[in-house]
Amino acid sequence: MNSLAGRDFLSMGDLTSQELSHLLAIAAQLKAGDLSADCPRQVLGLLFRKASTRTRVSFSVAMVQLGGQVLDLNVQLTQVSRGEPIRDTARVLARYVDALAIRTYDQQELAEFAHHADIPIINALTDWEHPCQVLADLLTVQEAFGSLAGLTMAYLGDGNNMAHSLMLGCALMGMNIRVATPPDYVPHGEIVKQARELAGDRCEVMLTGDPQEAAAGAQVFYTDVWASMGQEDSAQDRIPIFAPYQINNDLLAMGDREAIVLHCLPAHRGEEITDGVMEGPQSRIWDQAENRMHAQKALLACLLGAI
Ligand code: CP
Repeated sequence: MNSLAGRDFLSMGDLTSQELSHLLAIAAQLKAGDLSADCPRQVLGLLFRKASTRTRVSFSVAMVQLGGQVLDLNVQLTQVSRGEPIRDTARVLARYVDALAIRTYDQQELAEFAHHADIPIINALTDWEHPCQVLADLLTVQEAFGSLAGLTMAYLGDGNNMAHSLMLGCALMGMNIRVATPPDYVPHGEIVKQARELAGDRCEVMLTGDPQEAAAGAQVFYTDVWASMGQEDSAQDRIPIFAPYQINNDLLAMGDREAIVLHCLPAHRGEEITDGVMEGPQSRIWDQAENRMHAQKALLACLLGAI
């Protein structure tokens, strides 16, 4: 039974371990062509306050492949840009579209949409979390290793929205996660607490300032840009602070021999990851980007009750 029909997806923590496993299994079956799902005449709205290549296109293609349609709502052309209250916008859009994927800054704005709209609201990235990305990330790891429980991910860089969703996602799936950041860039304590509660005694959620401690024996290496959208002014200042956390061949050599490398993209080659690692044999970055489409197709099919 599909327990996700009609639900919002605002955080990785919205899912149980069983629901996340189910979603990943459906994504794998859709990708392999072993399962099909249809959402005819259903419309997905995209409301993005920030730039996007992968999320916008992968959601659009996924919805079209499900037989539905997409409305790319340019925020600047809507009354949202002139300050129409979220509670009013949410109630009106819910009368037109069947689901809404929102990219914005404040997780609270997303929660307000979800509170007032009686359709599925999907987090397409906020400053707090990026859960759709983590669906694709876990699908990619599952493809590489066959299963997730017991593996170890080393996340290196900023304790940002990606780190937050990865910590929750790994904890749900019984994967150890070691998050290596400079001391002033640790993940938020609320997420650390939540991830550790989800992990229980099945797996470890480790924070460290030492990239080598994170890397030792890890099966998955993951990084993201050192300055996220909206932090561009501090980008130059961050480079010397984050330099020890770069994923390069020396750090990668400390991991498992079969380790894979992931990056949510876009990347700043030569900063958080070297060109050689991005293009090297351990990189699964392009499969990971493709998996955005398969994972979100599974998510849409489940939320819209097509499976
Ligand atoms: N990884 C990701 O969300 O990419 P976009 O910003 O291009 O959507």
